[in-house]
Amino acid sequence: MTEPLVLGIESSCDETGVGIVRGNEMLANEVASSVEEHVRFGGVVPEIASRAHLEAIVPTLNRAVEAAGVDLGDLDAISVTAGPGLMGALVVGLSAAKALAYTLNKPLYGVNHLIGHVGVDLLDHGPIPEPCMALLVSGGHTNILKIDKLATTVTELGTTIDDAAGEAYDKVARLLGMPYPGGPVIDKAAQQGNPKAIRFPRGLSAKHDLERHRFDFSFSGLKTAVSRWVEVARRDQVVYDVNDVAASFQEAVADVLTAKAVDACLHFEVHTLLLGGGVAANSRLRGLLEERCEANGITLRRPRPGLCTDNGAMIAVVGSELVRAGVRPSSLDIGADSAMPLSQISM
Ligand code: KG4
Ligand code: ZN
Repeated sequence: MTEPLVLGIESSCDETGVGIVRGNEMLANEVASSVEEHVRFGGVVPEIASRAHLEAIVPTLNRAVEAAGVDLGDLDAISVTAGPGLMGALVVGLSAAKALAYTLNKPLYGVNHLIGHVGVDLLDHGPIPEPCMALLVSGGHTNILKIDKLATTVTELGTTIDDAAGEAYDKVARLLGMPYPGGPVIDKAAQQGNPKAIRFPRGLSAKHDLERHRFDFSFSGLKTAVSRWVEVARRDQVVYDVNDVAASFQEAVADVLTAKAVDACLHFEVHTLLLGGGVAANSRLRGLLEERCEANGITLRRPRPGLCTDNGAMIAVVGSELVRAGVRPSSLDIGADSAMPLSQISM
């Protein structure tokens, strides 16, 4: 059998993405972002995102089909993000995918956005050894996952008990007076700063916390610590370099994420670690993870930074895995699930 030709649609947050893959080969990946429209609000406004998806979905689809040079009639399946995400935003992509599946008479797969973030590495580095471990770090999620089979069997080993890693970046950026989204801005500022300038707390890393929360994360204490530090510095009129604060915060985040992901690999004797999600574009996280994986005999797989943020190709490649694994397609009457659990790969 030739590799499945799959079109993937993503609309869970502020990016409208349409990607086309053949097996693990990316043929097109077109993204329209409404991020500029949210900047002055300091975060994504759901209503604005939904309207932007509605306007962008058909032009983005047209661009993807043209870039891939394929005929829609030749598709083997349509894959679409069914959750988790913003309800009004998800519905736009899902409706478009249903319309395509219905008119073209092709199978529809409603897939989990987060599995897309993990599976996207197949496009860069081919099939993954199973089982493997995944560190998923996005704006809304922070998880350690054990992947026995990407298309069917994923287990959540740990999660954040409060803020997600990306959320912490966005909140800390805001309190440092930097624009939204905070991740890329802090990443850049941190490169000019000293990561050892301030020792910020590493959440859930003390011995008594590890007993109950070995693979879990917490970032709200870190955010509060940064906020207090800045408050005290301003009150006492201490001259400080904001780049040092950014670098020290980033170091704390990267330190805990990498320590726990490596610990999970060693504990479960899994030798491959996949990195995924918007925060996976972070330069320090990528660097430190590489160092620590190498020191522990773990093969690290990191998708290129451009594929770490939301896009349609990551949804298409999960669809392609589902087709190859012979998973039953979704019904045309599925709904969107804004809180779709990680263990559910497709609907
Ligand atoms: O995965 P994603 O595109 O959207 C969700 O599914 O949530 O992740 C967006 C998050 C934002 O919080 C953004 O600040 C963060 O990823 N991010 C980064 C970097 N690039 C994006 N965080 C740290 N360093 C970066 N270079
Ligand atoms: Zn995402």
